Amino acid sequence: MLEETQTESRTPARDRARIYVTGDCDGLPDLRDALSNHPEVELIGSAPQVIEGAATLTGGHLQVVLHATRSATLPVNEIAAIREHSRAPIILLASNGTPALLEEALEHDVADVLLLPQMTDNVVFAIRKAGHTGKRLTGPQTRHGRLVTVFSPKGGTGKTVTATNLGASLAKHWGKRALLLDLDLQFGDAAIMLGIEPEKTIYDLVTAPGELDSEKLAGYTTRHASGLDVLPAPLRPEDAELVTEAKLARLLEVARESYDVIVVDTSPFFHGPMLATLDQTDDLLLLCGLDVPTIKNVRLSLQTLQLLSFPPERVRVVLNRANSNVGMKKGEVEAALESKVRFEVPSDRVVPLAVNRSNPAVLSDPKSDFGRAIQEMAKALLPAKTASENGKRRFLGKNGS
Ligand SMILES: Nc1ncnc2c1ncn2[C@@H]1O[C@H](COP(=O)(O)OP(=O)(O)OP(=O)(O)O)[C@@H](O)[C@H]1O
Ligand SMILES: [Mg+2]
Repeated sequence: MLEETQTESRTPARDRARIYVTGDCDGLPDLRDALSNHPEVELIGSAPQVIEGAATLTGGHLQVVLHATRSATLPVNEIAAIREHSRAPIILLASNGTPALLEEALEHDVADVLLLPQMTDNVVFAIRKAGHTGKRLTGPQTRHGRLVTVFSPKGGTGKTVTATNLGASLAKHWGKRALLLDLDLQFGDAAIMLGIEPEKTIYDLVTAPGELDSEKLAGYTTRHASGLDVLPAPLRPEDAELVTEAKLARLLEVARESYDVIVVDTSPFFHGPMLATLDQTDDLLLLCGLDVPTIKNVRLSLQTLQLLSFPPERVRVVLNRANSNVGMKKGEVEAALESKVRFEVPSDRVVPLAVNRSNPAVLSDPKSDFGRAIQEMAKALLPAKTASENGKRRFLGKNGS
């Protein structure tokens, strides 16, 4: 890393593009030297093998990753390995490039391809361009993980059941890096529903000294068998108030750098932490049931969200226990809410059974009606969709991901 004193007089540290170099090719050592002395970039380090750089890729707050290759075809596995650890745009440096390589690279969302040798200023220009494009294309919605908040103004509507099953399905069935954050700060039971005995909770994380970053976050989450990471609610209700809005806002920002999706379970209140979460929420799953008091309160919630200027297109009404025979139909709920029901989740015996076994029903009974509904919901919320919604050019594999 460059000495702060050496470069302060040229470009302030915050304006320099933080870059990391992986791989190797002819001409790379010279370019690396030139970049490490360039006033507009901050070369954080380099690693010939992607895996050696994993920690910095994950926690380095990088703007751009440069990957060097001698291959004449796209090093797909190495690109995938970088993406496992970083969302920063990737520029490919090649010593044996062909026009086909460029085409292939662009199809795989590589930001740029540069054939070495190159003038250093050309490379810096490409870094700046990729850094900016990364910010624009991948603003809160694509660059970072997608934030899915599960809310309902009534207790017992199925928030925790939905959040835990959705998170488990995203991790297990859709291979996403997923985090479940329990923001039912006083009486959260997401961990118990998942059968997890956490050593650490969100309380420990926010009261730990020092700056919060991805690596630190990783030290406080507990992994569920599905692959879902869980950050549980504080163990004691009185510790809830230490999870302040500012701490939570930072926590969510950091989580979005490390995960594809963050599912947030909530309590039935619009308190400070909930407002901080709404600020960054991409999809608000608003849970409703087929009963008049819940519908009335969901309607009030929609009005509150409007007053808070929460974008209405981010609200997705979920009708839980949609198949219950209680003298009311989906159409009546939609009329009362003046809003379409986006997802329907059936009432299913497997759910209470699974809750009591501390294993999400979507895992124990994936083929049940409930299991299928949750998997469909997870699919509809997959982060890849946001990129195509934004009109970003994207390579779609056979499985559409
Ligand atoms: N689709 C469903 N089918 C059958 N049972 C369900 C379904 N959804 C929820 N339940 C049952 O309802 C109970 C309450 O659900 P859950 O704990 O998820 O509600 P909640 O909204 O998180 O409540 P709270 O506000 O108290 O946290 C669960 O224990 C579960 O057994
Ligand atoms: Mg709950």
